[in-house]
Amino acid sequence: MAKRRKLIVGNWKMNGRLTSGLNLAREVADRATASMPLTFDIVLCPPATLIWPIAETLMGSPVLLGGQDCHYANHGAYTGDLSAGMLADLGCRYVILGHSERRMAYGEQGDLIAQKVTSAQLAGLTTIVCLGETLEQRASGATETAIVQQLSASLPDKYHASQLVVAYEPIWAIGTGEVPSVEEIRIVHRLIRRSLGVAGETVQVIYGGSVVPNNAESILQDDDIDGVLVGSASLNGDGFWTIADKAR
Ligand code: PGA
Repeated sequence: MAKRRKLIVGNWKMNGRLTSGLNLAREVADRATASMPLTFDIVLCPPATLIWPIAETLMGSPVLLGGQDCHYANHGAYTGDLSAGMLADLGCRYVILGHSERRMAYGEQGDLIAQKVTSAQLAGLTTIVCLGETLEQRASGATETAIVQQLSASLPDKYHASQLVVAYEPIWAIGTGEVPSVEEIRIVHRLIRRSLGVAGETVQVIYGGSVVPNNAESILQDDDIDGVLVGSASLNGDGFWTIADKAR
């Protein structure tokens, strides 16, 4: 089986102002450009306010851009929302969907996420669909059931496997410093692959939750882990690049 390319994604969440965001993006872009040709893909997902200025900063570098969410509609009367087409218009190639912070804060559920996947793929974006178990589900041995259920609920009946990435993000590992063992991640990633059927051969399954420079190497060396989704550690250019560089 051909080796899948690794994918490194920085999710800035609601962090970064114009100057600090541009500086951070420039640092990552410079490091990536100096390491060309890259053997992995690297994506920054800044807050929506910074997408356009950062798009200009990243021009000519191998660093790609992504959004952190989008609406399922293409346009219309949806105050405060952004469509996938708008993200694509600014040069985004990826969008994160169904992050647990949105599932929890806004009650986003599978059917809504599946609609977003369809519309984002139609707009040409690669969709990074996040899922993961809670601490209670893990403690009661319900991890596998929760993952399979969330995966099938969050995907539309028809989707393009070439535009899908699945991010396994245990909720208890996000922002906590707690990380499952590589073996535990591998088991869930294999389960996700099996659940995807034929698409599982090609879809990148990445891990997210407290990835830092110190644990990135063992995570990224595993053949069942196709990359990482990095939150807080992506807010430091040097640290984020140190993580990405382990994918070489
Ligand atoms: P973290 O966040 O790296 O800060 O744990 C990961 C995520 O929420 O994607």
